[in-house]
Amino acid sequence: MHFLITGGAGFLGTALANHLAAQGHQVRVLDDLSAGEPSALDARVLFTRGDVRDIPKLWSLLQGTDCVYHLAARVSVPESILYPVEYNAVNVGGTVSLMTAVRDAGVQRVILTSSGAAYGRQEQQPVREDASMRPDSPYAASKLASEYYLHSIGELWRIETVVLRIFNAYGPRQPLPPSHAPVIPRFLKQVVNGGSIVLFGGGKQTRDFVYIGDVVNALAAAATAARVNRAIINIGSGQEVSITQLVDTLERVTGYAAHRLINPEESGGVPRLVADIRLARELLGWQPHVSLTEGLQRMLQEDERFKK
Ligand SMILES: NC(=O)c1ccc[n+]([C@@H]2O[C@H](COP(=O)([O-])OP(=O)(O)OC[C@H]3O[C@@H](n4cnc5c(N)ncnc54)[C@H](O)[C@@H]3O)[C@@H](O)[C@H]2O)c1
Repeated sequence: MHFLITGGAGFLGTALANHLAAQGHQVRVLDDLSAGEPSALDARVLFTRGDVRDIPKLWSLLQGTDCVYHLAARVSVPESILYPVEYNAVNVGGTVSLMTAVRDAGVQRVILTSSGAAYGRQEQQPVREDASMRPDSPYAASKLASEYYLHSIGELWRIETVVLRIFNAYGPRQPLPPSHAPVIPRFLKQVVNGGSIVLFGGGKQTRDFVYIGDVVNALAAAATAARVNRAIINIGSGQEVSITQLVDTLERVTGYAAHRLINPEESGGVPRLVADIRLARELLGWQPHVSLTEGLQRMLQEDERFKK
């Protein structure tokens, strides 16, 4: 198949592009490199630098494309609170531009990487796809708005569309400070270097950490699955892990003791978030295979930045 991946030089996009290229598919990547780094892309992947809102550029890249993965986005919740206009422009504007270009290009299917963050605070856990949505940041709102635009324009122009709501993905090559760094690479680096880890809210917050290889398998399955048109599908591990349990696991995997600083104040963000992944099993025939312990071991082995 012929694929275009927007945002394909980022953390998830690089892993997806390399996986698809290794399977013999034709893969193009469009990325403005505001956060991405194309050097880790497989030599078979065709890279173009550009903005996902550049419709003429999209037209030229979409010629002969069967399926588009739309990953290009600004991805930091705290940054989105500071720059909501920018987040709306890139995340929502990018999705609308892409769907406008796709309309005239003969693409069969567009797959959007949305986020578990779009759920916001939910009493019922694990959270199901039909929960009433409570996005609590401009980032979360921009992902939910993107879902609506994707499906509504897809419906109008008869383009198949699929939304994967990805929870907390982690794995080798994830960003580290000073850029926006999610909790796992940040804590892993601190544990290996003997730095302090601050546990807000006493470390009781829970999340669903899903290994990048499992996410890539779900994305790949979504390209050919038969009954996914207009679907919204959670992609997580289905395991609820507290931040304290995460640090315990980091200690076991690295062999280092973490220096924990307890801050009873809440850090912001929802207290609990874990995915109900039954729909992914049913529609994609997918399930996660990599445990948190195994995933962290792979990060240590494969990513030089975590070697002491
Ligand atoms: N990593 C996760 O845990 C996670 C969870 C849920 C959803 N997602 C979604 O998956 C996608 C990829 O996330 P990631 O973690 O790989 O982030 P990332 O920042 O590594 O990748 C995003 C890529 O988009 C590019 N980009 C940004 N603005 C662009 C623009 N205007 N035009 C073209 N390219 C642009 C960046 O340069 C970057 O390479 C995002 O849509 C994100 O919302 C990620």
